[in-house]
Amino acid sequence: IESLKGKDCLTLLDYTTDQLVYLLQLAKDVKAKQKAGQIYQPLKGKVLGMIFEKSSTRTRVSFEAGIYQLGGTGLFLSSADLQLGRGEPIGDTAKVLSGYLDGIMIRTFQQSDIEELADNATIPVINGLTDDFHPCQVLADLQTIEEVKGKLQGLKIAYIGDGNNMAHSLMIGAAKMGMDFSTAAPEGYLPKQAIVDRAKEIADANQVTITITTDPIEAIKNADIVYTDVWASMGQESEQKKREALFASYQVNPALLKHAKPDYMFMHCLPAHRGEEVTADIIDGDQSYVFQEAENRLHAQKALMIALMAD
Ligand code: CP
Ligand code: NVA
Repeated sequence: IESLKGKDCLTLLDYTTDQLVYLLQLAKDVKAKQKAGQIYQPLKGKVLGMIFEKSSTRTRVSFEAGIYQLGGTGLFLSSADLQLGRGEPIGDTAKVLSGYLDGIMIRTFQQSDIEELADNATIPVINGLTDDFHPCQVLADLQTIEEVKGKLQGLKIAYIGDGNNMAHSLMIGAAKMGMDFSTAAPEGYLPKQAIVDRAKEIADANQVTITITTDPIEAIKNADIVYTDVWASMGQESEQKKREALFASYQVNPALLKHAKPDYMFMHCLPAHRGEEVTADIIDGDQSYVFQEAENRLHAQKALMIALMAD
């Protein structure tokens, strides 16, 4: 496979299926090493800058712990404190940081901002969430599904809820890994058509399907994996009330889950709102894997950093 060294990770569209298989195998290996208490430091002396324009628990802590465990160090850079927050151009920031660092992880709003950063940086840029994509989350999700189900190919993922960054990245990840994907949301809140079109091309080539519907029962039918996310993402706080009303019939609850496979896995990127997109009995129940999924952020991102940044 083509080496990932020096590449960016702006969306999973950047990677071939073989490269994703490679990353998932590496994630499994680094997890096993860590569980065995083995010190493994292929990023000794490397520095990762982590720019946050939005809040984070998992992404911040897993990247910072991960780079440290691999022998390097992470710098938490709040955009409120960077000159970026006072209007210094993204391109200038990218050129300056490229002189100091070995990689940049950024969480921001517009995908075009991260593209501009990557175009001007000479070091790998990793998307730690934008309005459109959350690729690192999906790498961890795929690792988790493989751990639980023993495979990816041939499974069906149903994503019930807002057509947001998670919907987009899961759709692409599923299509690349040969999994059927379906999603349901109210009209006007379905995934972006341009991204659906890209994912459908990949799905067609891999002989799997992508189903976009407003009917949650249709979407969840026979699903092996049932995934949801908040109805109002970061930046959409003012729409919370309106969205609660619009999405009420899209709650993942025992009645809806009757239509999934009996041995479904429940997943959620977290943070979750119990009683909104999912009921507490489900997210805290036996078929929920949300904390294994959260832990795998660490392992999957360590694999990603090794692939992009190691000598
Ligand atoms: N799932 C996720 O990215 O969580 P944080 O917002 O806490 O980083
Ligand atoms: N869709 C959510 C995911 C948070 C990890 C958001 O963007 O806020």
